[in-house]
Order: sequence, then C-alpha cells, then structure tokens
Amino acid sequence: MKGYQVQTTGGIEDIKAVTLSEPEPGPGEVKVKIHAASLNYRDFGIAEGGYYRNDVRPIVPLSDGAGEVVSIGEGVTRFAVGDRVCPIFVRDWVSGPIKETYLHSCLGGGVDGVLREYVVYPEHAFVSIPDNFSYVQAATLPCAALTAWNALFELGNVTSDDTVLLLGTGGVSTFAFQFASKVGSRIVLTSSMESKLDVFRDMGLTHGVNYKDHPEWHKEVQRITNERGVDYVLEVGGPGTLERSLKSTCVGGHVQLIGVLDSPRAKIAPMITVFNALTVQGIYVGSREMFERMLLFISKHNIMPVVDKEFPFDSALDAYRYMSSQRHVGKVVITF
Ligand SMILES: NC(=O)c1ccc[n+]([C@@H]2O[C@H](COP(=O)([O-])OP(=O)(O)OC[C@H]3O[C@@H](n4cnc5c(N)ncnc54)[C@H](OP(=O)(O)O)[C@@H]3O)[C@@H](O)[C@H]2O)c1
Repeated sequence: MKGYQVQTTGGIEDIKAVTLSEPEPGPGEVKVKIHAASLNYRDFGIAEGGYYRNDVRPIVPLSDGAGEVVSIGEGVTRFAVGDRVCPIFVRDWVSGPIKETYLHSCLGGGVDGVLREYVVYPEHAFVSIPDNFSYVQAATLPCAALTAWNALFELGNVTSDDTVLLLGTGGVSTFAFQFASKVGSRIVLTSSMESKLDVFRDMGLTHGVNYKDHPEWHKEVQRITNERGVDYVLEVGGPGTLERSLKSTCVGGHVQLIGVLDSPRAKIAPMITVFNALTVQGIYVGSREMFERMLLFISKHNIMPVVDKEFPFDSALDAYRYMSSQRHVGKVVITF
C-alpha cells in the first residue's frame, strides 16, 4: 500500500513517499481504509524531530484521519465492516485522567499515523463519525477540535457568562470559536490579517484584534473588556504570546496552555499569575470519552468544521507547504 514516512529530522521536504506492507487486524483490532487526513501544526515538529515523548523514526505521520472499517479481528464488538470512523489522537487514552503510559501512543509520533491507505488499531481507539459529516470534515476532529473542546469544557468550564480570548485563526482557535459561540460566550480573537478576521466576522465575531496593527494587543483586549480582562485564554502562541495572555486575563481567570507558535525561547515575566491569582493549565488533546462528548455537542449544535483547502494524497507535501505558509483559516485536509 502507499504511504508516507518521516525517516529523518530533515523537516517536511525530507518526508518520503513509500510502499508499506498492508496491516491486517489481530484479535480486538480494526482495519480502516483511510479516506481523508488533516494536518496539525504539531506535524511540522514531528518532521523536524525532537517532539517530546513521540519521536520514533521511521514513523508514518499525521494523527488525524477518517475512513471506513474494512475488516475486524476476532472478538471485536464496537465496530462492523462498513462503519465510518476516526481513530483517536492518543490511541490508549480512553477515559479518566491522563497518564504517562498513554502519552507514548500518540498517532503519527509515538505509533504509526494515518498518512497511509490502511491503518489497524485496537477497537478502543476509534469513534464513530457523525452521519452528516463527509470524511473530509470528520478528518479535522481528532486533534485540533478535541483540544479546543477539552480546554473549554473538560478542564475548563466555559459558560455564557465568560469572555474567551482566542489567538490566531488556525485549527484549534477556529474550533474553539465555533464551540464557545454556541454556549453564548463573548469572544475576542486575534489575527495577523484583516482578511482572516473578516472570515470570523462573517461567522459572528464582534471583537477582532489585528496583532500586527496592535503589537501590544493585550491592551486592546483590556480595552474591549472595560479593563477587566477575559475569563479564559486558549494560549496557542507559547512563550512569544504568554506574557500578553496573562496580562489579558481577569483576576481569578484561566490560561489554558496549548501550544508554541511563536518565539519558543522568549522569556516571560510570570508574577502577574500570582498577583491576579490566575490558573495556568496545560492541555493535551483529550481522551476518547471527551471526543464522544464533543461529537454529541457538534451534532446538537450542527457545527461544521471550517476546511480551508484540500490536497490529493499524491500531493501531501504540498499540503504541508501550504499549511506552513500560515495562509489557512481552520483546517488543511489531504484526500485519498
Ligand atoms: N497541547 C495540545 O494538545 C495541542 C493540540 C493541538 C495543537 N496544539 C498546538 O497549538 C498550536 C496551534 O495549533 P494549530 O494546529 O491550531 O495551528 P495552525 O492551524 O497551524 O495555526 C496557525 C495559526 O496561528 C496563528 N499564529 C501564528 N503565530 C501567532 C502568534 N504569534 N500569535 C497569535 N497567533 C499566531 C496564525 O493565524 P493568524 O495569521 O490568524 O494570526 C497561524 O495561521 C500549535 O503550537 C500546536 O502545536 C497543541
């Protein structure tokens, strides 16, 4: 079967198209023909090496896919041939709190991922996808959507009383915008580009901040919130944005620490966390049960993922190149 492998630490230009042996399901396992896969920022880190705990070489990249069950192993009860499914990001995290042992089983980093025609994983590592979702739409969910969901509603407790700050217009922030809008939260969203903010204004955004025009964007966030600050920040920028995120947060507020898009070695002044009694919480995607709760919410509110662009399987590296240019809003998908 056709697939791709990360074999070196040479970055995306060194990802190889390869022929792989087709996996067959053993007892308790499910074989799925992948129809679509989506990219996450994390997939650049995998290609460049050094990704914490999940740095196996060679590895089939990408965590996020959707497809159809084509065969099942002995004893499988959760799925049947023909079912439409997504594998979960942390293969062995089904429920309960996160544990060290689960974190070595992340798709496309610790174990082979979905950028190949067929995958086999244990039956516990799949969820059924909504009937009204295409494979392209479903392939956007396992990482970015679940991370946003976990930050807002599992480790977070965001309600209509809260103001939420979202940074940028990538996969995590776009899903967070859609989810938090549905519970009636007030949202402030930053972006580098006015045209990207316009995409969100069309979806109902009332408070957009262009952080190129406002390098001290935390002051704009404070102005918008009448100098109170926001209740929650979904912090995807990392050291380059964290200090301004802390300064954007109200007394007793929450900073959900998710990613590192900006200046990984920047220094920050953390004392505002103490003076304003903030809670800083690390977020790591989510469990299968969280994924299932998110799917119920998505169905109830008829949420449709924002897919920026699709690329065919044979042009998978063009999808990586496009995503690395940061011209996208929402998700970039590869179709098989
Ligand atoms: N902890 C977890 O479990 C987890 C899960 C998923 C993702 N992540 C992390 O979260 C981050 C976002 O992931 P993603 O997949 O959503 O990324 P993505 O889709 O590639 O989003 C990139 C977008 O972020 C914005 N951005 C870049 N630099 C920024 C800055 N300095 N300030 C504000 N926005 C900035 C840009 O949008 P604009 O041009 O609109 O500003 C850019 O297009 C990554 O660091 C990723 O590794 C972590």
